Amino acid sequence: MQNNNRKNIAKGSGEWAVEAKGVVKTFGENRAVDGVDLKVPTGSIYGVLGPNGAGKTTVIRMLATLLRPDAGSASIFGHDVVKEPHIVRQLIGVTGQYASVDESLSATENLIIFSRLLGLGKAEAKNKAAALLEEFSLTEAAKRPLKHFSGGMRRRLDLAASLISQPPLIFLDEPTTGLDPRTRNQMWDTIRRLVKSGSTVLLTTQYLQEADELADRVAVIDHGRVVAEGTVNELKASIGNSSLHLGVQHSRQMEEARRIIERVLNVRAAVSTEGGKITAPMADVDRMTDLLIALRESDIQLAELSVQKPSLDEVFLTITGQGAGTSEESNNKSEKAVEV
Ligand SMILES: Nc1ncnc2c1ncn2[C@@H]1O[C@H](COP(=O)(O)OP(=O)(O)O)[C@@H](O)[C@H]1O
Ligand SMILES: [Mg+2]
Repeated sequence: MQNNNRKNIAKGSGEWAVEAKGVVKTFGENRAVDGVDLKVPTGSIYGVLGPNGAGKTTVIRMLATLLRPDAGSASIFGHDVVKEPHIVRQLIGVTGQYASVDESLSATENLIIFSRLLGLGKAEAKNKAAALLEEFSLTEAAKRPLKHFSGGMRRRLDLAASLISQPPLIFLDEPTTGLDPRTRNQMWDTIRRLVKSGSTVLLTTQYLQEADELADRVAVIDHGRVVAEGTVNELKASIGNSSLHLGVQHSRQMEEARRIIERVLNVRAAVSTEGGKITAPMADVDRMTDLLIALRESDIQLAELSVQKPSLDEVFLTITGQGAGTSEESNNKSEKAVEV
């Protein structure tokens, strides 16, 4: 489809690139997605943040018309994913799909074919492929067949392919999981550039830091439900700028210590499942003095104390009162099929 035509379909359909209401997907007994609402503003980077098995990939597969929702509705630029899948597919790009291209061909050949399929002329396709390979530091590997590419190289090539077609909405399912820091930073730059040039990006991630770096808004998802939604700053404000980790010498004093923390810091503190530590969000490090005095007054002996940046697990502790339940089932085959 011509770019202009596609932009017109995307335009005039309001401010939402994605609008999902009460979307449900059940696998047998497992309600993998349990009534998810999402609103992704056009032109933004939206992060879906959650642990392994939370339902992130399943949500994306439904939005990308690869899986039919059991209940609820979803639309992409105003087009219903179930009733108008052919239009939706012209408006989206999903990373991972590029992997289905010929393994025996080189990266250059694949990108040229891809460009030609999208209607670019011969010379234009060649230049585009060369420029993208250069940008993604794949020039050296450009002539090698895809089957010899590492996971990180494949993912970069995958994203390079999305840059050719520039779909109005791009789904990136854990685009940086397992990448080395340098490649990950490169990925972040590219994602930002995609949005600057007019695309909307919906990405999933397990990393709070990644959402922090990239996303304008975030939905935190756990056990198939959205447990928090807002800007990253709102999310951070609700969990505190830093998090307190505290261990006591005598486990019988754990509960009392937890209550003191809650009273002095005026927050919800939780006892972590492993290691028997107490964690609590901390907005103001200066309150530490008051806390230590209160603990001493109650004769509570500390075994361990640290103040750290909040992790995703702490976000979940704070929001749901439980840690992020990382289930082993999450390494399912369907997920691997979508990811590269
Ligand atoms: N095709 C499938 N068949 C059966 N269960 C599935 C399938 N896809 C996902 N699941 C299950 O649904 C839940 C959510 O999975 P998924 O969406 O892949 O989570 P995430 O991407 O957040 O790790 C998990 O419990 C997973 O095992
Ligand atoms: Mg997944």
